[in-house]
Amino acid sequence: MDVELAKRAAAEKALTYVQSGMVLGLGTGSTVEAGLENLARLIAEGLRITCVSSSARTTQRAQQLGITLAELDSVQIIDLSIDGADQVDPYYAMIKGRGGALLREKILASHARRRIFVVDRSKQVPVLGHIDLPVEVVSYGWSHTAARIAKCLGSEVRVRRDGDAIVATDNSNYLIDCPIGGLRDPEALDHALRSIPGVVGTGIFVDMIDILIVGDG
Ligand code: 5RP
Repeated sequence: MDVELAKRAAAEKALTYVQSGMVLGLGTGSTVEAGLENLARLIAEGLRITCVSSSARTTQRAQQLGITLAELDSVQIIDLSIDGADQVDPYYAMIKGRGGALLREKILASHARRRIFVVDRSKQVPVLGHIDLPVEVVSYGWSHTAARIAKCLGSEVRVRRDGDAIVATDNSNYLIDCPIGGLRDPEALDHALRSIPGVVGTGIFVDMIDILIVGDG
């Protein structure tokens, strides 16, 4: 499989669901970005939509392509959202957030009437896990929050860094990357992690997929 072709195929297919008059939520990541050029072309050709971005990264790319964006707070509802994922299991639970935008992505998706997720085949797994699960925490007392997360998981965790500097999310929070084994009950772990003060979101997404598009390359 050519992963880049597969991402493009999935992203292009997702665009076939976009119709004039819609408010479209744009997720984050290379798979979503694979469709942005085409989206810009469709808009230039007359598609009338309002786009809302889930991250500074998507905002930057959309603006480079001349796609006008609206703030989430300036729209009533998102008609359709398109986002990527790091893993999807057979029950449509996902791990997201390697791109660091998990909290805004979850907020955006939760306000969408219909949610499309676009992945290449390598993201489909029988059981979630065996990758790092990102957890977003407020910066205040982050090391203590991280210690609680580690205790909850029974494993070492680490704050995401770029070189020596701690990476700040678009919300000025930090990301704790948590190595996890096979995740049989994603909802329970999400709940347990979110009950730790300081945790504002996890990369576990359940009950969010309306349409899953799996690209092949
Ligand atoms: C960002 C995300 C991305 O959707 C996820 O990491 C997939 O990215 P890509 O399409 O680049 O593989 O959750 O926070």
